[in-house]
Amino acid sequence: MKQFIPPGRLRLGVLASGRGSNFDAIYAATRRGDLDAEVRVLVSDRRDAAVLTKADERGIPAIHLDPGRFSHREEYERRLVEVLQEYDVNLVVLAGYMRLVGSTILESFPNRVVNIHPALLPAFTGLNAQRQAVEYGVRFSGCTVHIVDHGMDTGPIIMQAVVPVEQEDDEDTLALRILAQEHEIYWRSLQLLAEGRLWLQGRKVYIRPLLPTQGGHKDETSTN
Ligand code: GRF
Repeated sequence: MKQFIPPGRLRLGVLASGRGSNFDAIYAATRRGDLDAEVRVLVSDRRDAAVLTKADERGIPAIHLDPGRFSHREEYERRLVEVLQEYDVNLVVLAGYMRLVGSTILESFPNRVVNIHPALLPAFTGLNAQRQAVEYGVRFSGCTVHIVDHGMDTGPIIMQAVVPVEQEDDEDTLALRILAQEHEIYWRSLQLLAEGRLWLQGRKVYIRPLLPTQGGHKDETSTN
């Protein structure tokens, strides 16, 4: 079994392309002291992303890195990795980052890139997961925090939350209810990483109990 990251305060680099509500929920958890982490930098691939303003308002370095400035993805990712290293990041957090992460990032941060997906993986991968769930007619959907690997939404699962799908739901109403759960399970998953409690065997993630020396007061391993 392999530990993802030794216990200790996380130094997060958040990548996001849009609204930034997950960024905000993670930042808020660090401020409350529920998450032993510091958001070192926020990078967005989109100039108009609301998350850039949010980060700026909270005093977090907010950087727009335009993929269009680079001749290919590898070159863009090499610059992105440089930025993350400049800010001494030890965990990369995707929060609505609308690009596939390539091997340049994954090899620089092996098993150190996490993502949140608004469905119960392995169901409904890719874009518009909430719409896919409504159209398929499932009774339950939810969200998944997972480690990022080379596939799309295929990496080892850290935590999931289940959300019922109501008959009246459209993709927007379902997305809102799922989002509320995303805002809970993302920081809780990161806190497990900060506590050094997550171990990998094959593609399965194991959650070890808190050691007595670690305090023992934060014992939630799942919201379900
Ligand atoms: C969330 O639904 C997340 O699951 C998906 O993209 C959305 C980002 O929302 N990956 P926000 O920008 O964090 O508000």
